Amino acid sequence: MSDKPGLFTPIKLGSLDLPNRIIMSPLTRLRATPDCIPTPLMVEYYAQRATAGLIITEGTHPSPMGRGYTTAPGLHNQEQVAGWRKVTDAVHAAGGRIFVQLMHAGRVTHSSLLPNHARPIAPSAIPILSEEIRVWDGKVPFETPRPLALDEIPQVVEEYRRSAELSIEAGFDGVELHAATGYLPNQFQVSGSNHRTDAYGGSLENRTRFTLEVVNALCSVRGAKQVGVKIAPGFTVNDTFDDNPAETYLHVAKALNLLGLAYLHVGYDRDYTRGTAPNFNPIDLLRPVYHGTLLAVGGFDRQRGDAAIASRRADAVVFGRSFISNPDLVERLRLNAPLAEGDIKTFYGGSESGYTDYPTLSPFYRAEHDLTAS
Ligand SMILES: Cc1cc2nc3c(=O)[nH]c(=O)nc-3n(C[C@H](O)[C@H](O)[C@H](O)COP(=O)(O)O)c2cc1C
Repeated sequence: MSDKPGLFTPIKLGSLDLPNRIIMSPLTRLRATPDCIPTPLMVEYYAQRATAGLIITEGTHPSPMGRGYTTAPGLHNQEQVAGWRKVTDAVHAAGGRIFVQLMHAGRVTHSSLLPNHARPIAPSAIPILSEEIRVWDGKVPFETPRPLALDEIPQVVEEYRRSAELSIEAGFDGVELHAATGYLPNQFQVSGSNHRTDAYGGSLENRTRFTLEVVNALCSVRGAKQVGVKIAPGFTVNDTFDDNPAETYLHVAKALNLLGLAYLHVGYDRDYTRGTAPNFNPIDLLRPVYHGTLLAVGGFDRQRGDAAIASRRADAVVFGRSFISNPDLVERLRLNAPLAEGDIKTFYGGSESGYTDYPTLSPFYRAEHDLTAS
């Protein structure tokens, strides 16, 4: 046995003891109700995956204006708290741990999904042009968002803070801020979507201000050890463009490094991205400046995961698509068993098909291979 750490070496993550370093990635699956309330099917889905070192839920909006999808869950009212409570109780009963990912869509949404058909909000009036958005009856172009007035920003930060309070009532072990792939905090960070000339735009300090205010609000409720942040430097999905991504994300990571968070979760390009700056490796960029726990995500398997941890480029590894189609991913990785492929057609929305009906390894396979697993 190697004495280097790997996917199966326990780790302390903030205030949690994880039995392994295999983290389930936030995955939007669109199985909540049209009122954004978690369903019994979601209870089953998450409980099936409770052997993960940590589950991070799908993107969950902290306020009605933060909603980005039709049947994504929210965490801003008591019905949603009650729905989530069933999820967290089931995950805990199955021996797992679970953070909620708070995802405010900002401009990555459409008025048909928002209260009173309001225009989406964003740092600046710059629409997403290279993609369309799926709403109730098909895809439509993005609208030009309404820039947030300076005095509205504290209210948005307060919505996140309130949602963190509800995350305690809902039984979550912590919260992750989605500050990646073009959602609201990322919209403030990058120069392409932030043309503000006030305290939230222009300099690196100003573009990072919103992210830090939200993180501090979450920490004020949960404590820093129960707060993680996801970033994905260099990803250009949702028209996320920056004049100098290395400089921008180094600044963000250095600022977050001072806060003693549970972790920084970094999106890493393998084959998921729809356009990442070429030759841009965010883990290599950020590891030297981020001294806390670093989670890496993007195209990992057992070998690459163990190698990333052994070389200390990452402290734990996050798996996305393979958790969709392998509810027992942890055991499959432990046994070096084959992984099932997911069906993209059922990734977003639908029933139990392609959601809770992926099989676990057969008892015969387990009996035959358990003794030889490393
Ligand atoms: C169906 C699907 C839904 C996703 N939803 C989210 C999400 O809600 N929040 C988020 O941060 N990332 C989301 N992602 C990105 C994943 O969390 C992950 O970063 C990405 O799939 C790369 O990891 P992988 O190569 O292990 O799949 C999603 C990805 C997929 C395929």
